[in-house]
Amino acid sequence: MRVAFFGDIVGKTGRQKLESSLNQYVSSEKIDFVVANAENATSGAGLSANHAIDLLNASVDCITLGDHAYDNKEIIPLLAHTKQIVRPINYSDDCPGQGWQIFEANDQRILVLQVLGRVFMKKKFLDPFPFLEEIFSQYKLGFNVDCIIVDVHAEATSEKMAVGHFCDGKASLVIGTHTHVPTGDTRILENGTAFQSDAGMSGDYNSIIGMDKAEPMRRFLKNQIGGRFMPANGEATLCGVAVELNKNGTAKNIKVIRIGGVLGSSA
Ligand SMILES: [Fe+2]
Ligand SMILES: [Fe+2]
Repeated sequence: MRVAFFGDIVGKTGRQKLESSLNQYVSSEKIDFVVANAENATSGAGLSANHAIDLLNASVDCITLGDHAYDNKEIIPLLAHTKQIVRPINYSDDCPGQGWQIFEANDQRILVLQVLGRVFMKKKFLDPFPFLEEIFSQYKLGFNVDCIIVDVHAEATSEKMAVGHFCDGKASLVIGTHTHVPTGDTRILENGTAFQSDAGMSGDYNSIIGMDKAEPMRRFLKNQIGGRFMPANGEATLCGVAVELNKNGTAKNIKVIRIGGVLGSSA
């Protein structure tokens, strides 16, 4: 079985690129299941109901969110009855939606969950590790589930790596999101879990982490807030990873996905 994961879709350009490219990618690479992080898909902050439905209609099997999960309130009613959207499992004790879901694809059972990190994050989230422990006490790769994908949505690479090693041998893939820059540490950990600290974003790389440069530059250079961050709208590059699994659910290989040209360059 092959699964693909795409990092944070940022704004209209990210959505459009995914919607125009994904079907072809899935069929040419024989991908059985697609997860995409969409916490920034609507105007850079949150996910509207319509955009969620568009992504699900475009070969995305499961959407994950992040610290921006509830920035667009339209998503809240959809979370109650759309199994394909997974919010962070440790966001708070009482928040809408499900922190993990089990899917079926190609006669395989795929569990997707998302955890938030706590280091350098603006909001206070619950400790992710007891939630992971609870899931792994119930679901064992190769026994009652064929694949486990963990989206670790965090700022600090150290925390993401800790989650990776904590899940090693128990998850098929631990993939970082949130920092919007693809990292070069793509690998399979010693007990068989595929890992990359950050998938990168699916958006315009001629930007500051997906946002038009003007406002972040104003804040950095002049220490002034001039308005809200707006997504950059040049052509997007889709970034993520594709993982081929062994029969026992561990990773056989992991490949970097880049669709749409050179990052941040007009070349
Ligand atoms: Fe985030
Ligand atoms: Fe993000």
